[in-house]
Amino acid sequence: MRRAKISIIGAGNVGATCAHWCAAAELGDVVLLDVPQTENMPRGKALDLMQASPIMGYDSTIIGTNDYKDTANSDVVVITAGIARKPGMSRDDLLSTNAKIVSSVAEQVKTSSPNAVVIVVSNPLDAMVQRAFQVLGFPSNRVIGQAGVLDTARYRTFIAMELGVSVEDVSAMLMGGHGDTMVPIASCTSVGGIPVSQLIPDARMAEIVQRTRDGGAEIVSLLKTGSAYYAPAAATAQMVEAVVRDKKRLIPVAALCDKEYGVGGYYVGVPVVLGSGGVEKIVELSLTDSEKAAFQKSVDAVKSLVASMETLLKG
Ligand code: NAI
Ligand code: 2OP
Repeated sequence: MRRAKISIIGAGNVGATCAHWCAAAELGDVVLLDVPQTENMPRGKALDLMQASPIMGYDSTIIGTNDYKDTANSDVVVITAGIARKPGMSRDDLLSTNAKIVSSVAEQVKTSSPNAVVIVVSNPLDAMVQRAFQVLGFPSNRVIGQAGVLDTARYRTFIAMELGVSVEDVSAMLMGGHGDTMVPIASCTSVGGIPVSQLIPDARMAEIVQRTRDGGAEIVSLLKTGSAYYAPAAATAQMVEAVVRDKKRLIPVAALCDKEYGVGGYYVGVPVVLGSGGVEKIVELSLTDSEKAAFQKSVDAVKSLVASMETLLKG
């Protein structure tokens, strides 16, 4: 059986860690690409990962490169290229630089891997995935963004820590943009099948939701030199797995929503069924009035971010 080909553009912290998770889980062969200025760095990381394979017992091939020819006809392309947040910076501060980087990467991916499912990770995520979609010209089901899996994982982790239970028993759904307006859906949050409202008082849940919203900034303030990468890379690898193994996972991803939730043509975090075709279905939940209002606020924030990006790109 042919192994899947997974190309990861940007061999920095998230890209290299994602290559690690993908190889270790034998999701396919991995190509790690970075700009020519980084010279042999992607080759070094790839060789290091190959040399871990006899110890960890995985058979994936990992190569590093600066040349898109090596990524040709990938099944999945992950875009992590760009700059990351430093203390005091918001995701939106990255807008101008990363919009240009993601545009140039998407131009290359468009011709080198025309049939790929593309997973965008670069920030600010909701605008970058919209930009990649505009440049790629691929069907929207094959262009998606990673944010919701990470944000939901943070939320689940904090709930498990609060209750002293296994994270495996915490199930949750989170919608909206990858920013301060993300919307945990209370009615979809349970622990061992028990609604979380029966286990954690509302006031404490509000603090957990706020910590989730600030989850990226909390890591930036601890690391000081960059932003989170282990959990973001694991979240991305879960999406890669859903595609290459046709898992039909029901998970939150940034997907192009038009009529869905009345969004009108923007990428925003929603529950989807993710399989070999990319987004196979957008799942429409019935939200409470307050969830609808919070989701609308998040969609408005995404729209204004995309408008700022379009102004910057014209200027
Ligand atoms: P990093 O700085 O460690 O790595 C970025 C890499 O991109 C660098 O190696 C750089 O040389 C490369 N790069 C820059 N321009 C490129 C181009 N045109 N083509 C190919 N490679 C290029 O940053 P890190 O921590 O890996 O983060 C990457 C991006 O992912 C950032 O924008 C960050 O904000 C974002 N991010 C998004 C998350 C999400 O949940 N959506 C979570 C974590 C990070
Ligand atoms: C995060 O949430 C920086 O977006 C990244 O950690």
